[in-house]
Parts: sequence; C-alpha cells; structure tokens
Amino acid sequence: MRKIPFGMPILGDEELMAIKGVLDSGMLAHGPKVVEFEEKFAAYTAAPHCVALSSCTAALHLAYFIIGLGAGDEVIVPAQTHVATGHAVELTGAKAVFVDAEAQTGNIDIDQIESKITANTKALSVVHYLGTPVDMDRIVALAKKHDLFVVEDCALAIGTYYKGKHAGLVGDLGCFSFYPVKHFTTAEGGAVLTNSQEIAKKITQSRAFGMDKSYRERSVPGLYDVQGLGFNYRMNEVESAIGIVQLDRIDGFLKKRKENYRTLTNSLRELEEISHLEVYDGSSQSSYYSKTILLSEKIAGKRPEIIAYLNEHGVGTSIYYPHPVPSMTYYREKYGYKDGDFPVAQRLSDHSIALSVGPHLVPDDMLYVADQVKNALSSLAI
Ligand SMILES: Cc1ncc(COP(=O)(O)O)c(C=O)c1O
Repeated sequence: MRKIPFGMPILGDEELMAIKGVLDSGMLAHGPKVVEFEEKFAAYTAAPHCVALSSCTAALHLAYFIIGLGAGDEVIVPAQTHVATGHAVELTGAKAVFVDAEAQTGNIDIDQIESKITANTKALSVVHYLGTPVDMDRIVALAKKHDLFVVEDCALAIGTYYKGKHAGLVGDLGCFSFYPVKHFTTAEGGAVLTNSQEIAKKITQSRAFGMDKSYRERSVPGLYDVQGLGFNYRMNEVESAIGIVQLDRIDGFLKKRKENYRTLTNSLRELEEISHLEVYDGSSQSSYYSKTILLSEKIAGKRPEIIAYLNEHGVGTSIYYPHPVPSMTYYREKYGYKDGDFPVAQRLSDHSIALSVGPHLVPDDMLYVADQVKNALSSLAI
C-alpha cells in the first residue's frame, strides 16, 4: 500500500544549512534574512512591495487595521473560505457580510455582491479558491463604483495569475500564507504584496507595534517612537531563511502540482458520479492547490465511507472548507444564518473531497489515488 499524505513540505539540506546559519549568527529576529526573503518573493511575483508577516491571518487582520475598519463598518466576504478571511474582519469590530460561491470555480459569486453592498460597506474581499483566479476586472469595477478597498486572500494562490499579473496585485493588496501544506513553506508565515508604497509602509509599521523606526533603522539602539497602535506580526529570521531556499524550488513545486493535477483529473474523468471544478491555464492561471472532487447528489451521503476507504488505503484527504464560514457556530449564533442561506458553498463543503497533488507526489501516485477512488466507489456499490 502506498502512503499519500495530503500535505508534506519538501525540506532538505539547504533548508537545514540556512537554519543553522541563522542560529549561528545569533540574530533570530530583525535581521537581514527577512529583507532578503521580501526582496526575493517580490521579485518572483513582480510585486513592487512585499512585507513579510507571521501568517496570512496576520496579513488579513493588518489589511483591515490599516484602513481603520471598526464597529459599524461592513466587508463583503466569500462564504466558501477559511474562517481567517471572516475573522480578520470581525477582529476589528466590523461585520463580515457573506456572499455565496459560484458553482464552476467555488470563487465568490460576483453577480450576488452588489445586492449585499450598503452605505456601511468599506471593503470587498475575494479568495482565489484553491488557487483559481477570481475575475478581478469585475471586482475592481465594483470596487470603483462603490469606493471599496479590495483585499485578495491569496492563501492558496502562490503561482496564481490573473491576466498575466500574479494574484494579490490587482486589488489593493494580497495576503499570502506559507503554512506547511502551502505551495512553499516558511513553517508558519505570511506576507502582503501590494503596488502601493503607502500601504506597504503602514503594514510595515503596524506589524511591529506601530514603531516609527524598525530595529535596523535606529541610529541609537533602543530609541524609537510609536505613532499608532500595532501588533507583533513579524516573520522571524529562521522562517525567512527557510523561505529564501524554498523560493529557489518554487517553479519545480508548481510544475509538479500541475502535472499531478492533470494526471489525476484525466484518470477520474470517466467516473459519472464525480464532477470537477474549473481551473485555468494561460495568462489567467490556477495554482493547482489540490484536486477537489465533487460527489454527485446520489453518493454525497456516502462521503464519510469514501474518505474512510481512501484513508485506510493510504490516501490522505482534506476538505476545503468543512462548512461555509457563516455556518460555523460563531457566525451562525451572531448573525442567525440558517441552513440553505449559502447553497452553493454548502454543496462544496458537503460534497467535496480534496486530494493532494503536492510536489511530494509523482504522476504514478496519482494513478494509485485514482484507482483507490474507483475502488472506494465500487466497494460501496456505487
Ligand atoms: C483562504 C485562506 N485564508 C487564510 C488562511 C490562513 O492562513 P494562515 O494559516 O497562514 O494564517 C488559510 C489557511 O489555509 C486559507 O485557506
């Protein structure tokens, strides 16, 4: 039996040496590695500005913090996402107003956004669901019309392009995650990409307590002023050093994901009870985060048995995401959302199984995964 873990970061001697270098230097924070990582990720994505952070959640929180979002304000948030996308809004005291997904890609249903915009709406957030780019021209047009700040949640979108631009660079800013199962990792970590020098400056200050001078900018050690509130959301030197090495490998990682995705999708096409989300390959390009299969109405009730079969046969699985965010207890109790309020997101949550196409796997593994999916269905007499 093969072992196909859902996520498995690829780390080697280069990362080990990079970590050792940081430990030997004694400089674990505020050092040169974070600057190098920011420059390298900016160069990779052709971003004018990159600010490294402790996580994507921190990036999302700062995005709203720097525009002064607070009680009485509202932000449009896709229902089908990680809770972090909603929590970042709620943490400021503002309200996350959810919009259902579109069935073809799982991205926010742009047709439904305008009816949710009110005089209190200050921002519009989108998630490139599983790394498939949102139609940003339509988002930007809506934002212009209603004077909204656009936040791109790019947690699954390293290697996602929209009309030739890397994800995160069409809206006001993009928030990235380098958590271990992502396209590359820094252990925990995140970043903001933006075209705006002003936004980059505000994010940089508020990631470190609102201090006017970073550690490296101080002429007198320990002397600084604080011009506003802020957090400790910095990326440290160990994380940055890992990220610098991982960025050398990213093209290979992305190539493998795409190849694995294609092999797995082609091998599952014949199954009538399974459908597939759309992905893009061209100047608008998906990042192939996972191969999410959708079970038909007829077999969706058997999902727990199918997942159990796959797991017992060595195939790791996940679910993106387990419930639409407004169906999570916190949001349900706070805003009174009911079952059926977000039918497309609900269907994605209830009917989907995410299979790995990560770079730790090869096309032959994909054939094994496809065989196990077929075996699962036949063993359950589907
Ligand atoms: C869409 C989305 N946004 C935000 C996050 C949170 O990222 P992080 O763990 O880096 O805070 C995730 C995590 O998977 C995610 O999927």
